[in-house]
Amino acid sequence: MIAVYPGSFDPITLGHLDLIGRASRLFEQVIVAVLRNPNKMPLFSVQQRLEQIRLSTQHLPNVEADSFDGLTVNYAQMRQAQVLLRGLRAVSDFEIELQMAHTNKTLSTQVETVFLATSNEYSFLSSSVVKEIARFGGSVDHLVPPHIALDIYQCYNHNSPMLNPITTEAIPLKSMPMETLTDKLRDQQV
Ligand code: PNS
Repeated sequence: MIAVYPGSFDPITLGHLDLIGRASRLFEQVIVAVLRNPNKMPLFSVQQRLEQIRLSTQHLPNVEADSFDGLTVNYAQMRQAQVLLRGLRAVSDFEIELQMAHTNKTLSTQVETVFLATSNEYSFLSSSVVKEIARFGGSVDHLVPPHIALDIYQCYNHNSPMLNPITTEAIPLKSMPMETLTDKLRDQQV
């Protein structure tokens, strides 16, 4: 069975990638389909997003990235896909996703929407959250693959914020002799 996973993916996050990895074990082929949306001002061009997705999914041989415009169900039918895949993070997603699934069903009875629950650790994560953090100088290293984090920092014109407390390497307090610990704390001005 072929599944189309449509979205904006501006940019693709670890949450999307977790879903794609799990879907790749359920379906013969997963097509990650980037909508060419003239109504949105994206951070990354469609071409950049496709490259980001391809690089992030190169270890999954049955996953491909493509772009489309128009109706998602038409694209799915053109690709002979039977499934539209969407992730559900929280109840707040449910209303809009259900409406979308019902709308798509009125447009084609041939295509079924299948929801996968987003893994717990990514239930807060969205492309918008990633962009907002980066815009205000925060680290997104824990939210997207490294090559995408670099792309994002480049867009917002700053380097990986190494001094951000989120990315500061944890100091293993128990295993460290007291002198080393105080030296380290003084060096890092913690
Ligand atoms: O990542 P997003 O922005 O939540 O993805 C939304 C997307 C692209 C899946 C949705 O907007 C979509 O399918 N757009 C294409 C137009 C369409 O088919 N509309 C009818 C269903 S509402």
